[in-house]
Amino acid sequence: MLQEKYYPNKEHIKNASIKSMDEYNELMNAAKEDYEGFWGKFANEKIDWIKPYDKVLDESEAPFYKWFIGGKLNVAYQCVDRHLKTKKNKAAIIFEGDNGDKRVLTYLELAYEVSRTANMFKNEFGIKKGDRVVLYMPMIPEAAISMLACAKIGAIHSVVFGGFSAEALRDRIVDAEAKLVVTSDGAFRKGSPYMLKPVVDEALSKDCECVKAVCVIERNGEDVNWVAGRDYSYNELIKSQSKYCESEAMDSEDPLFLLYTSGSTGKPKGVQHSTAGYILWAQMTMEWVFDMKDNDTYWCTADVGWITGHTYIVYGPLAAGATTIMFEGVPTFPDAGRCWKMVEEYRVNQFYTAPTAIRLLHKMGADEPKKYDLSSLRILGTVGEPIDPPAWKWYYEEIGRSKCAIVDTYWQTETGGHMISPLPFATPIKPACATFPLPGIMAEIIDENGNPTPIGEKGFMCITKPWPSMIRTIWNDGERFAKSYFGDCKKDGKPVYFTGDGAMIDEEGYMTITGRTDDVINVSGHRMGTAEVEAAIKKHPSVAANAVVGKPHPIKGEGIFAYVVLKGEDNFATEAETIKEINEIIKKEIGAIALCDDIVFVPDVPKTRSGKIMRRILRSIAKGEEITQDTSTLEDPTIVRKIEEIVRSCKL
Ligand code: WT7
Repeated sequence: MLQEKYYPNKEHIKNASIKSMDEYNELMNAAKEDYEGFWGKFANEKIDWIKPYDKVLDESEAPFYKWFIGGKLNVAYQCVDRHLKTKKNKAAIIFEGDNGDKRVLTYLELAYEVSRTANMFKNEFGIKKGDRVVLYMPMIPEAAISMLACAKIGAIHSVVFGGFSAEALRDRIVDAEAKLVVTSDGAFRKGSPYMLKPVVDEALSKDCECVKAVCVIERNGEDVNWVAGRDYSYNELIKSQSKYCESEAMDSEDPLFLLYTSGSTGKPKGVQHSTAGYILWAQMTMEWVFDMKDNDTYWCTADVGWITGHTYIVYGPLAAGATTIMFEGVPTFPDAGRCWKMVEEYRVNQFYTAPTAIRLLHKMGADEPKKYDLSSLRILGTVGEPIDPPAWKWYYEEIGRSKCAIVDTYWQTETGGHMISPLPFATPIKPACATFPLPGIMAEIIDENGNPTPIGEKGFMCITKPWPSMIRTIWNDGERFAKSYFGDCKKDGKPVYFTGDGAMIDEEGYMTITGRTDDVINVSGHRMGTAEVEAAIKKHPSVAANAVVGKPHPIKGEGIFAYVVLKGEDNFATEAETIKEINEIIKKEIGAIALCDDIVFVPDVPKTRSGKIMRRILRSIAKGEEITQDTSTLEDPTIVRKIEEIVRSCKL
């Protein structure tokens, strides 16, 4: 039997939540025949409604789609309280610190912590339904607890990744008009303390009048600056809070959270997610894609600051009643066997990480996995960028011992949850391929005219029907939302959601993602807008113009390559110094994740006569490729050769 070739363990096939491609096709056909019926059935089955919804889908204000209209629910209740009937003593969160300290929170303990924190937000800081709370947190249980506490009282959280700089944090605080910032003194990384609170202090040093208070959790115990009347100790205030808190009855469409992500302009987009649709799909994909069983221990290595951390460390696993591991440290500390040691120790069943981490662990410790018992593993997941065949093979053979299902999950911040992924133990896998859309997801690869692209040819990856966990809008900018996602692709004359990714389909219908088609770079699975980096570089006083592109990188997937035009010839004497200064500015404006791998100084950047920078040419030059593009439309066609020579002489 075909399936057994891929999945040698018959038990796994027998027990899988979707057992075969026949079952997959049945589900997909059900969705095609009665789309609302399909989603309505799952919404009834999976969600503990406070008040049932009246209508599944409202398309009248497209592309502002609404789901489960009239329903009332609470996501913290769905993720925690409702499980108390059947699993109050089950581990909800297992925390492992950078230095190996451990903490387990059962569902009952988590329920109490969430309620205490919710009461604190309400009573001490006056947080009400609809208020925005920014979380600038390390990977500690309080990050998840604070997210759920917001959900409990209907506040909208916006988690900002701890690697972002004060400037980036401020932009996000101001855009969301946050009332409260929750942070920690700092945390630990690679055996040493690092700090977060000073970054918050700097962010709040201007333009943040909206912020009324900062709530600080003690994690590394380092000294921090304290602003009286603004800063409060979480550890002190929490002591007097009641462990009981009513769950606010939220409307299906009330925003659950904002999460800022990069687009094609310099300003990050506040992706707004909903309550009912988001949690439904988070839970369903946990069950389908990770085949969650009651005794499983699941570990996703992402950071809570990204969508993967939201949906697949906190909301999805907890909604599904699973045990989820939160890891504060890095996979390479104290050595490249840390993850495999943890897999052995906690008997991890599902392990979910990024291709960049797989490549790094392969390179730094190809034989490390051999030292550990990895037999508990059943499913291995990857996310964030296309996985390359060598990394896939090592993951499959050395980590999975050729017995695990690999799920290459394709999705985005905006999609809320997985869109395209193999179903473990059902989908015959092809290495390094995201395979098929999940049941209910109408993903199609189309050309400019909305026609399906021929087999083997690149097209645009579009989702042609709204789905429950989709982005609802960009915070405060509905126009940008409609334009960014529904402005490029049409099918049957109707705007459809365009992901920004290119993709290909093969003769068996398998879909492979080929990468972004817009000005977005993917560095270690983190999305970076070229315009954001360019805006930062522009702040250097000697920079006249610049253009940034992605360049293939063996570990990070893509690295950032910047072409910089300086204001005066004489500045060339201080190139090395200028490079250092530019990177300092990037670190200050965005954070270390956006540092450039290569910076070259060029006399000009190639522009069309209308002034548009031709990044495609710059991408080819960075890669060392032959220039095949037509350069005759450029303002100065000779510039291409000049830049090529400079790059070649730099031997980058
Ligand atoms: C972009 C979304 C989704 C959580 C992490 C990143 C790329 C994501 C895959 C995959 C190929 C992938 C796409 C997408 N991407 N997963 N399995 N195969 N590409 O979230 O920051 O919103 O980035 O990541 O380019 O558009 P994000």
